[in-house]
Parts: sequence; structure tokens; C-alpha cells
Amino acid sequence: MHITHLSLTNFRNYGRLELDLPQGPTLLYGNNAQGKTNLLEAIYYLATTRSPHADNDAQLLNWDAAQSEEPIVVGRLVANVVTAQQTRQVEMRLIQEQKPTVARLRNFSFRREALLDRRKVRLMDLLGAIQVVLFLPEDVQLLTGSPANRRRYMDITLCQIDPVYCRTLSNYNKVLEQRNAVLRQMAEGQPGRDILPIYTEKLVDLGSTIFLRRAKFLANLSRETQRIHYESLTEGRESIRLLYLPRLSAKKSRLAPPSEQNPEALSEWLETHQGQSEIVSERFARLLHETLATDIARGATTVGPHRDDWSFQLNGRSLGSFGSRGQQRTAILALKMGEINWMTAVTGERPILLLDEVVAELDELRRAALLSYVSQATQTILTATDPGMFTDEFLQTATRMAVENGRINVM
Ligand SMILES: Nc1ncnc2c1ncn2[C@@H]1O[C@H](COP(=O)(O)OP(=O)(O)O)[C@@H](O)[C@H]1O
Ligand SMILES: [Mg+2]
Repeated sequence: MHITHLSLTNFRNYGRLELDLPQGPTLLYGNNAQGKTNLLEAIYYLATTRSPHADNDAQLLNWDAAQSEEPIVVGRLVANVVTAQQTRQVEMRLIQEQKPTVARLRNFSFRREALLDRRKVRLMDLLGAIQVVLFLPEDVQLLTGSPANRRRYMDITLCQIDPVYCRTLSNYNKVLEQRNAVLRQMAEGQPGRDILPIYTEKLVDLGSTIFLRRAKFLANLSRETQRIHYESLTEGRESIRLLYLPRLSAKKSRLAPPSEQNPEALSEWLETHQGQSEIVSERFARLLHETLATDIARGATTVGPHRDDWSFQLNGRSLGSFGSRGQQRTAILALKMGEINWMTAVTGERPILLLDEVVAELDELRRAALLSYVSQATQTILTATDPGMFTDEFLQTATRMAVENGRINVM
């Protein structure tokens, strides 16, 4: 799949941009703070409806435009996308309205609109229209950062190709909030015992689907990542894998046998029960029953997919805690290359690759491995401050574009 044209209005430091994009590799180069990362972010945002940084969407609007006196400010991102099947136009609007108030304080409201082929759709329906794999230098935080980081990665990646997962997740989060509200009420001594089971039942139903799909996703992604890491990145010396850590057991449980508390056994158990969501539901329901007293005391649901995690394992140890910086970087590279293969296998389309300043950090062996993926991709957009670090051979195949202060010139 590839994007033929990208149009940006009031997005970050792009006031107005109309850009034709070719197939093959495109190298965006220029000094720092000119808009290279912002351009990758725009494409990623259209693909996932999320920014790679977990910040507030209103900040995506161009600052100058957002501060103007205009009653309505609209940021627009539009991409024309070509796949083997069809050509589509994917659009996102960021809308900021000023509501007049008594005081001189300005009161803003911010909302987003999604359009597919010029027709308004739900944000969720945009997912899958563009499929991307984004690789940022800070991705190493997937190893060292918080579980929330890793859940976010899992959710965004899986949502790009699995609409059922995405819908289920969104419903799960709503039901979780409702259940937690009832638990808080009960913690304060108000009634809730009769409505709690209604939310618990829904939570069990939705949560089981999430557990199962995450287990399958991580098992498949792990297989690809492990192979690439072993064969292409460490010359057969090291073997890593991704381990799903579902919160399908209580942290300390006197009731459950040890085999039910071991995360490794649990993720295998989920894998062997693919397609048997009743069995998983039954187990999740039993667990929620077991943790009920704790949940009421805390006023929150303490088990379930919203507390999941996953980790990189090297010889049975967590790479995040024990790996060297170099080992961690190699693992992330393997993960990204694994993601490309996994996505291509699932969808039958090659995703668009977005590589932000990552090539500079790699040694020769790993750079060559990554660039071989670039040469197979239908479209790749890479950024660098210095095009000189690429080989002439690579530069001959790439389209070069200079980025300067929110403007792009094709060289
Ligand atoms: N909402 C915004 N409005 C205008 N400018 C922004 C906005 N958000 C970030 N910027 C500017 O964008 C620039 C950073 O762009 P970036 O794409 O990260 O640069 P680089 O070329 O180094 O990758 C900075 O100058 C920053 O001030
Ligand atoms: Mg940058």
C-alpha cells in the first residue's frame, strides 16, 4: 500500500502542505526542529487516529492558528491511499471552536471528525485504511517504560488490522469505568450489590475476547521477531521472545494453584484455548468473584486486561531489566521488522514504513538488515539530519526531500 498525496492544514508546524509522495523510499532530511518527525506523525495519526506521543490532541493544531481570533479553527489531514484493491481518501479534521463567555476568558471546545472518501465516519472506521509501521528512537521505552506504554503499543498495532478487537476494547473501557463507579459507591457504603453483576458479566464477556486476541497477536509477533533477531540480527547467537503477561490471576491468591498464577503458563493456556471464549470467560468470572472484596475496598477493578503487560525475554530473563543498551536496541529493531512481516501476512498488503532517525543509530549489519526491508516495502518514509550517512547505492533509489521550517522541497 502507498500514499500518493498528502495534504496538511494547520497541523503542527505545517500551515499548509500539498505533497505528492512516490513509491519506494523517500528520504526527508534537514536540520532539527524543521518538521521531519511532524510529517511522520501526520501519517501515523491518519492511520491510527492516535499521536505516537500520548499527549493531548489539541496540541496537534498549529499554535498560531489556534491562537487566532477566528471563531472556528480547523486542522485537516488528508491522504490519498492506493492498495491492491482500491484507492481511498482518508481524512481527519481537528476542530477548535471558541465559545463566547461572559468573562473575557476564551473558552475552547475541541473535537475530531473522520472522513472516508469524503463521507463522515466514526473515528474507529478510519482504522485499517492506512497501515503503517512506525519506528522512533524512543521506542526503546517499550522495554524500559511502564506497562501502560506496552499496552498502548499492543492496542494501536492490533487495532490497525482487527476492527473487532478495537470495538471490543472501546466497549471494555466504557464498562470498566461504569463498574469502577459502582465499586467506588460501594466503598463509600452506598448500595450497588444488585447492579454490580450486570457490569461484571459484560466485563467478563468483553475482557475474554481481549485476552484471547492479545495472546494470539503476541504469539504470532513473537515468532516473527524471534526468527529475525536470531537469523538476521545476532548471527544465531541470541534468542529472544515476547511473553504475554495477562492479568488473569490475582497477584497473591491463596485459592488458585501455582500453575494458575504463572504468567507464562497463563499465556500458553490462552493460546491453547483460542476460539473457546466460554472457557476463558468462566475463568475470568471466577477471578473477579475471588477479588471482589479487594475490588470493593479499593473502589477499582484490580484484575483484567486493563492491567496486562508483556515483556521481551532473553534466556528467560527480562531484557528490559537485564539487557545492555545494545541488546535492547537490537530487540526493538527485531520487533519492528517482525511487525512488518506480521502485518503483511495478516492483511496481504505491505504496510507503509515510517522510520524516524533510526538508521543513524544502527551498526552496519543491522542497518543493512533494516534497509533490505525498506527495499521490499512499497513505500517507506525515512528521516535523517544528514543524508551523507546513506550509501550512494541507497540514495540512488530514494527520492530526496529537504524539510525546512514546515516546507518541503523535492530535490
Ligand atoms: N502545534 C504546533 N504548532 C506549531 N509548531 C509546532 C507545533 N508542535 C510542534 N511544533 C514545532 O515543530 C518543530 C519540531 O518539528 P519536528 O518535526 O519534531 O522536527 P524535526 O525536523 O527535528 O523532526 C518545533 O520547532 C516545534 O516548535
Ligand atoms: Mg525529529
